[in-house]
Amino acid sequence: MGILELENVSLVLNNQAILDGITLDIWEGHIHAVVGPNGAGKTTLAAVIMGLKGYEHFGGEIRFDGQSLRGMSVSDRAKAGITMGWQEPARFEGLTVRQFLNASSRNGKDSEIEEAMAQVGLRPEVYLSRAVDRTLSGGERKKVELASILVMKPRLLLLDEPDSGIDVASLENIFNALKQLKRNGATVLLITHSNAVLRQAEHAFLMCCGRQIMKGDIEKILPYFEGECIPCDHKNRPLVETEVPGL
Ligand SMILES: Nc1ncnc2c1ncn2[C@@H]1O[C@H](COP(=O)(O)OP(=O)(O)O)[C@@H](O)[C@H]1O
Ligand SMILES: [Mg+2]
Repeated sequence: MGILELENVSLVLNNQAILDGITLDIWEGHIHAVVGPNGAGKTTLAAVIMGLKGYEHFGGEIRFDGQSLRGMSVSDRAKAGITMGWQEPARFEGLTVRQFLNASSRNGKDSEIEEAMAQVGLRPEVYLSRAVDRTLSGGERKKVELASILVMKPRLLLLDEPDSGIDVASLENIFNALKQLKRNGATVLLITHSNAVLRQAEHAFLMCCGRQIMKGDIEKILPYFEGECIPCDHKNRPLVETEVPGL
């Protein structure tokens, strides 16, 4: 069963259709990706799923565990186990990495916090006492955020452009963390315009101009996304859907 189901979701902002008829099934325990060029509506879709201010008035239906998310507050969504990692992670002035991860952790165990840090490539002895502020680089903050997500153990995780601000060597750490999340049974929705990130997913949706263009096997989507996506006449094309071997 889909842990998250979107049915014909649409959103109009400033008299513009930003999302137009998005229907997605996100299967529990799997890694999915939403891909598409800049401006396709990917981040907007995440904002609607998270219930952020200004994005509440969508058309269609979004269900988590079979329950409508319409009208549910951001904090109630968080309590239900829905978490989002941001393209530009927040700063927490005055908090050390240890305090921040402790606050995010389900059980506050030092061993688990250090394990999560190691998984994302942060050496605890170097980073535990650092402040989560501008003295950390964007990439380091991104890793701290990912470690916080690992100790939080979300049921559904949306990650917007997880590779932005991350160097190639650190990308492996991010991908390790994704594998760990999957082992823990989490469901992940990657939002990306990167082929490397798309390759981490088991199933993908291609978006363009607020519409879904293709869904299914990433091998079928990769070449399309690489070669055919811009410029395009996607607005007028029917949805292409493919089977994923083994799913
Ligand atoms: N609050 C808003 N008001 C008006 N237009 C918006 C708003 N948020 C996003 N948009 C527009 O929606 C489109 C999709 O944006 P976005 O979801 O950020 O795309 P992506 O994440 O795929 O790059 C863009 O044209 C953007 O300008
Ligand atoms: Mg975006």
